[in-house]
Amino acid sequence: MGSRCFQAYVDMVLQGKNPTGDPDVDDIVPQPGTERWNITTSAAEAVPHCDVVLVTVPTPITHDLKPDLSYVAGAGRDVFEAIRKGSNTIVVLESTVYPGVTAQTWHPLIEELGLVIGDDLEIAYCPERFNPGDSAHGVRQVARVIGCSNPEVGEALVSLYSKLTTEDVRYVGKLEVAEAAKVIENVQRDINIALVNELARIFPALDVDVEDVLSAAATKWNFHRYTPGVGVGGHCIPVDPYYMIQRAADVGVPAGLITAARAVNRSMPSHVAGVLGDLMWNAGVPAGEAKVLLLGWSYKAEVGDPRETPAEPLAETLISKGIKVGAWDPHLEANDFPDNVDVITDLSNASGYDMVVLVTAHKACLSIDWQTLAKQMRTPILYDGRRVLDLDDLNQKVGTPLLLVALFEEN
Ligand SMILES: NC(=O)c1ccc[n+]([C@@H]2O[C@H](COP(=O)([O-])OP(=O)(O)OC[C@H]3O[C@@H](n4cnc5c(N)ncnc54)[C@H](O)[C@@H]3O)[C@@H](O)[C@H]2O)c1
Repeated sequence: MGSRCFQAYVDMVLQGKNPTGDPDVDDIVPQPGTERWNITTSAAEAVPHCDVVLVTVPTPITHDLKPDLSYVAGAGRDVFEAIRKGSNTIVVLESTVYPGVTAQTWHPLIEELGLVIGDDLEIAYCPERFNPGDSAHGVRQVARVIGCSNPEVGEALVSLYSKLTTEDVRYVGKLEVAEAAKVIENVQRDINIALVNELARIFPALDVDVEDVLSAAATKWNFHRYTPGVGVGGHCIPVDPYYMIQRAADVGVPAGLITAARAVNRSMPSHVAGVLGDLMWNAGVPAGEAKVLLLGWSYKAEVGDPRETPAEPLAETLISKGIKVGAWDPHLEANDFPDNVDVITDLSNASGYDMVVLVTAHKACLSIDWQTLAKQMRTPILYDGRRVLDLDDLNQKVGTPLLLVALFEEN
């Protein structure tokens, strides 16, 4: 909620439509006219009627990779200004932050407004953990942790959140414990993915297939398998480690491993762009004449969300080499793509390309009529950037000579 809420989101919800692009939460949005349901962009109107206020605003990074806490501060101010004295309203931050943000950002605002914690309000932290596009880990199926300096409020929130999810809900102590838990969950994933991405660059040079290596290693009971890829996307994993790096820098402790992992994952799109350029050069297509079509643009399969997608730096690097880039993603609107990318809405119009790159494994991208697409291409090269296609099978089915290459199988 808040005066800066997107009116378009509110309008969609008022019509009973899901504005998130995640089909798993289609049934959460109530139908218009549902009783006990009220939606407004005005915190002043909503907050006085609430015992508990959940704040789930974006926590992005700035251009220089620093945490942008302006939404947490802005939404906090809107809510606190609307709190009635003596109401003891509980305000819960759910956004992903580094340990210390909730108190450091909100305490000065609370003091400035003359409000008193314990009388007028309580603040708590309960991180959002759901996985968009993953019906097994939607908002109603993830465990929740609650941090609050007041254990009674923490336990009251356990009762409330237990109604929202079927999984474990736990009071874990002070705010900073819950804040830190959320951020390290994503830091750990970023580091694990960085390791396989680094291996995926080493093994082709050794003439060893990384997927064969991972399958072999995964036969050991304590080996955790992660999948290398074009890059790490979305607004969580590629963003949250910078929050941890910033906090460690504030207290003068090096976060070398977290920083190195981020650098590896950040470099993947430009690495893959270099590989694509080499493949086309070897097929007789110099960069200045090349045209590449990206299939899928959103950061993960079946989700209509382009934020932090690795497709964007991949396209930027290709364009910087003089390569023309087109993109097709049936989950996105034309204005989700950058201006310098040619947006293809109908694949029958995608002709003259030298290479198609499967970037996002949407079902729609996997069931393409490859034979027709290959015939429309000038140089038919297909690069499976997700290693999800059965290339042997495709080779047999597609009549046109098609050079098929799977990710990290370049040599
Ligand atoms: N969406 C996810 O998959 C997911 C999963 C886990 C954690 N998170 C975390 O949850 C937080 C929100 O992510 P999101 O993807 O839902 O963000 P989002 O970009 O969809 O924004 C959420 C809402 O915040 C509103 N908003 C923006 N600025 C505001 C302001 N100043 N005052 C009031 N409302 C404002 C927007 O209108 C929008 O409805 C982030 O910290 C993210 O890291 C998200």
